Amino acid sequence: MTRLRAALIGCGRIGIKKHIEAFAANSDKIELVTVCDIVKEKAERAADEYKKRCGLWVVGSTKDKKTVSAQRTTYNQQRILKPQVITDYSELLDKDIDFVTIATESGNHYRIAMDFLSARKHVLVEKPMALSTDHMDEMISLAKEKHLKLGVCFQNRFNPPIQELRKKIESGAFGKIFNATARILWNRNKDYYKQSSWRGTWAMDGGTLMNQCSHNIDLLQWTLGGDIEEIYAVTKNFNHKYIEAEDFGAAILKFKNGSVGIIEGTANVYPRNLEETLSVFGESGTVIIGGLAVNKIQTWRFPGEDSHPFMNLPDPETVYGNGHITLFADFANSIVHDKKPYITGEDGKKAVEIILGIYKSVKEKRPVKFPIEFSTEEMIGFKF
Ligand SMILES: NC(=O)c1ccc[n+]([C@@H]2O[C@H](COP(=O)([O-])OP(=O)(O)OC[C@H]3O[C@@H](n4cnc5c(N)ncnc54)[C@H](O)[C@@H]3O)[C@@H](O)[C@H]2O)c1
Repeated sequence: MTRLRAALIGCGRIGIKKHIEAFAANSDKIELVTVCDIVKEKAERAADEYKKRCGLWVVGSTKDKKTVSAQRTTYNQQRILKPQVITDYSELLDKDIDFVTIATESGNHYRIAMDFLSARKHVLVEKPMALSTDHMDEMISLAKEKHLKLGVCFQNRFNPPIQELRKKIESGAFGKIFNATARILWNRNKDYYKQSSWRGTWAMDGGTLMNQCSHNIDLLQWTLGGDIEEIYAVTKNFNHKYIEAEDFGAAILKFKNGSVGIIEGTANVYPRNLEETLSVFGESGTVIIGGLAVNKIQTWRFPGEDSHPFMNLPDPETVYGNGHITLFADFANSIVHDKKPYITGEDGKKAVEIILGIYKSVKEKRPVKFPIEFSTEEMIGFKF
């Protein structure tokens, strides 16, 4: 089978950890031909990491992927070349590649995605896909106009407990879903913000709701479904005076279908990450999925069911979980078979629009009606 040719743009924390892991795990379907970072050493490190990891994965096998047989390793090493290293992504625009993944700071996603879509490349972009409703709309319409795939990395949708919940929602097992709560109780300290100066700024990021909480906000809206009617929110910067944006947020979301969503997100939990939990309450079902990062079923109640085999799943190594591997495979599949990726641009927009609605509500000190037009840049200079 011919492999798709891909490039990674941005080789920082998530790029080197999760994109490289996912490219290596899918090296039977995707050839990572180029890695790009404005800091050359980071791109070099990512290229080396990819080569190293490819030695650990068995091309073409879905079973027992960590087995390193001498024969297979030799085969891998013949087929998998070290990716080319570049520092300026514009060199790639007229090159023979099928798609890029974008893992740069959030405030750059829009510009880079638009450049690659304009150059007729499919784009898989990290969350949040952009920081303004206008930018997200432009990305979605350019992808549509050029018949290209635009996917967004909300990889937690692939967590096995979340997939189990999804089956119950789609089968109607909950009856009417009344309300759901997304809680993200984590810790981000000064070192984290000092590592990358864009974090916590309105121009390039947003606060904990945009950066840490957007996954669970996505799961909340996916679970309750449909359009938002109105949002009311309070945010604070309790404990991170050296960043511009919030480190705590609480919001109530009224959906047009009558259900209510509650969000509680914080980066202040002493002394370390505690939990990321999604609780769903319906007429004939109650589900709570918790653990470090929505990876463990805690409560599972439906008529005749009072537990689930996924109640004792271990916490993942990091809060990023393992969903990027499946997400990359799905995105490649969507290109090869010309179908929608599991998480489209339209899907990716929903959580960001909710977070922008929260910011707008906080700025205007009142509930805001949806749909909205807003951007994190409109928060510059905001005083908590
Ligand atoms: N899906 C997830 O679970 C998850 C987890 C963490 C971060 N993220 C998202 O990933 C993105 C990156 O976050 P991070 O923590 O890895 O940041 P980071 O600062 O560690 O990495 C960003 C990298 O992009 C590079 N870069 C910036 N501009 C570039 C350009 N024009 N061309 C090439 N490289 C460029 C920087 O040099 C840096 O190495 C953010 O949008 C963040 O929200 C997603």
